[in-house]
Amino acid sequence: MKTHRIIIDTDPGFDDMVSILLAFASPELELLGICAVAGNVPLEDTARNALRVCELAGRTDVPVFMGCAGPLLRDQVFGKYANSGGLGGDLLPEPALRCAEGHAVDHIVKAARDAAARGETITICAHAPLTNVAMACLMGGEEFVRGVERIIIMGGAFEALGNRVPWAEFNVYADPHAAAVVFASKIPVTLFPLDATFQGLLTPERLDRIRAVSGRVGEVMEKLLKIYDRNDVARYGQEGGPLHDPMVPAFLLRPELFETVPAWVGVETANPESAGHTYCDFFGKLGRKPNCDVVRRVDSDGFFALVTERLAAYGPTQRGETQ
Ligand code: BDR
Ligand code: CA
Repeated sequence: MKTHRIIIDTDPGFDDMVSILLAFASPELELLGICAVAGNVPLEDTARNALRVCELAGRTDVPVFMGCAGPLLRDQVFGKYANSGGLGGDLLPEPALRCAEGHAVDHIVKAARDAAARGETITICAHAPLTNVAMACLMGGEEFVRGVERIIIMGGAFEALGNRVPWAEFNVYADPHAAAVVFASKIPVTLFPLDATFQGLLTPERLDRIRAVSGRVGEVMEKLLKIYDRNDVARYGQEGGPLHDPMVPAFLLRPELFETVPAWVGVETANPESAGHTYCDFFGKLGRKPNCDVVRRVDSDGFFALVTERLAAYGPTQRGETQ
């Protein structure tokens, strides 16, 4: 079994929660920490929600760090559902667990440098605005770069156009300058744009299958989806909504579910009317060296089979008995 030492950079968030739960339930992934950043909701709420997810999973051993409270340069924007606290208000109890000492950026830098010193690497799973990750790239130097095998990012949109605004995907829109720093970092990047994540809709049937095996976790997912209705039949052509973020750890677990192409990706930072717009040189028109492996195709049945199988770890252990 190939194992990966990972850091999750996140702004929970419904699909962030599912991604963290998927990682916890996967013995191939050793979680070195969860780094919260402002995004869907303010930093205090993303950190509190990350702690709630750890408690929901019974994984209070994994440290949660607070990171950057706002984007590098642009005015702050939050997600569409910011007014309901990111994880359904008080649906999950106020956590007793507290954040670890220290700043998330320092933790990311240290974890990578320590790995490099041992001749090893870590992987950064980033599914939030890239502020923490960009700061780590800016502060970390050569040793940091050597210690990071890959950054897997949920962000950007090409053919799919935008979500939070018509021209941009939320994670890049919320901090376009941070995305530009990470794309220029020379660290290998795998990018899941909306084009890819829209291929994996969480349909009512798929949710039913998860709900049937995953106990309290499935119950929470179902309740959250009642609060944050993600259906958009006009856009997706069917019932259901995207489950963006868990594709990031899923890529480490089952890379064969995802087809990627190397390409150069850029991001608009200057014009406020189009900031966060991403563009991809799929046909090599610019002659630039690719800076990303862009996910083009997703085996969505395979992806949901994986998510369902792993989330079953939170479900009934025996007939009639729940964990
Ligand atoms: C991304 O934005 C957030 O709202 C989601 O958690 C996901 O990371 C999708 O654009
Ligand atoms: Ca997210």
